[in-house]
Amino acid sequence: MIMWKDTGMGSMLFQLLLVSFVFLSFVDNGSAGVTSKFVRQEWPSDDIPLDNEAFAVPKGQNAPQQVHITQGDYDGNAIIVSWVTPDEPGPSQVRYGTSEKKYDFTAEGTVKNYTFYNYNSGYIHECLVDGLEYDTKYYYEVGVGDSARAFSFQTPPKIHPDAPYKFGIIGDLGQTYNSRSTIEHYMESGGQAVLFVGDLSYSDRYQYHDVGVRWDTWGRFIERSAAYQPWIWTAGNHEIEYMPYMGEVIPFKSYLQRYPTPYAASKSSNPLWYSIRRASAHIIVLSSYSPFVKYTPQWRWLAEEFKRVDREKTPWLIVLMHAPIYNSNEAHFMEGESMRTVFESWFIQHKVDVVYAGHVHAYERSYRVSNIHYNVSGGDRYPVPDKSAPVYITVGDGGNQEGLASRFQDPQPEYSAFREASYGHSTLEIKNRTHAFYHWNRNDDGKRVATDSFMLHNQYWGSSRRRRKLNKNHVHTVLASMPHRLRRPL
Ligand SMILES: [Fe+2]
Repeated sequence: MIMWKDTGMGSMLFQLLLVSFVFLSFVDNGSAGVTSKFVRQEWPSDDIPLDNEAFAVPKGQNAPQQVHITQGDYDGNAIIVSWVTPDEPGPSQVRYGTSEKKYDFTAEGTVKNYTFYNYNSGYIHECLVDGLEYDTKYYYEVGVGDSARAFSFQTPPKIHPDAPYKFGIIGDLGQTYNSRSTIEHYMESGGQAVLFVGDLSYSDRYQYHDVGVRWDTWGRFIERSAAYQPWIWTAGNHEIEYMPYMGEVIPFKSYLQRYPTPYAASKSSNPLWYSIRRASAHIIVLSSYSPFVKYTPQWRWLAEEFKRVDREKTPWLIVLMHAPIYNSNEAHFMEGESMRTVFESWFIQHKVDVVYAGHVHAYERSYRVSNIHYNVSGGDRYPVPDKSAPVYITVGDGGNQEGLASRFQDPQPEYSAFREASYGHSTLEIKNRTHAFYHWNRNDDGKRVATDSFMLHNQYWGSSRRRRKLNKNHVHTVLASMPHRLRRPL
């Protein structure tokens, strides 16, 4: 057994390990970027037919369907449960407890419906269940009599800098056979909550009544995961549903009715931008399609929210948005540039760890770069290596009916570390305050294939000054949490 001391040999070896991980992970700048040579098999990317079992309507008169949960407060001891009853409102009650089929508590919610052209929604229920214990399995039930349906979920550990947690990251999912492959692979990954980076149902690809119907099918489609663990929502362009020829001009109309967020808990004025804290992570959700320039409500909120981030409590600072800031795919090239000019300097200043986006139907990961010295009238116009910058990751590859964005710019820009046009999802497995394992998992002919992976170092606790503050026990914890192959002598 190796014995460590606070300083000296132990510290030197720990430093060596950290440096080696950076090298192994290709996150460091200076490595050549990779454009994967993998060519995926051409599965059709058509929407699954309405009568497919993937969209099965639950049995029973007025049975609740489209059940999904999201975090209901700032720190993770509440959830919001949403569901739809098709025929009549029925009660908006959630019965819950810590034993199966034994519901000691009830929470009362609200119900509403809406119209979209000639589509009439079912009765959409929304119920806050709060005062939950951390790190506890709860069982819950919605509906009445023979039509009642039961589910369960696990609350996260209490906010703590070393609380481990595994997030999944999914974007641009849609409701095709590829979407089904993505969601099935994600459910095998052991992820505990989904960070969803926008473009949910792609129902806006339809007309008239079918727009609403495809929201319903999508709700039933994701229930297999979203009823059992929170999905943290980000709005994309397909949520705008701007259809003047149908008289529908209210942006995000269906999305806002169906997918509530806990925005008020983070002092936001709008459900489209908000933040949550979960385990050891502070997650900021931004809206690419709402005003964000200086003095707008989103800009003001984000300025204040960054002040509330406490890396001593939540070391991991994660930002979600839909349109990527660094993207070398020909699809949607530079669509995130306006947000980059407004927020990138804040991401650097506050040492954001990672920014996840979707929108581009492919996978791409950046090196740590910034372009905050860009000057419209001067010569500075290229991204440069920047150790304070986040890693930017695009996972718009959930598998929707628009297919893959397979044309990347050639040559690969220096800021691009890895890119591949395949369907898949990512996971971020936080081990403690300093280290997290990241994987991108390609859907490959029915298999889940870990394709791009690296060790993410925390931007706050990774500094040498703060590392020295960590005590001997913490060093032991870090080493114990590493995969064995990464612990071998270097
Ligand atoms: Fe999009």
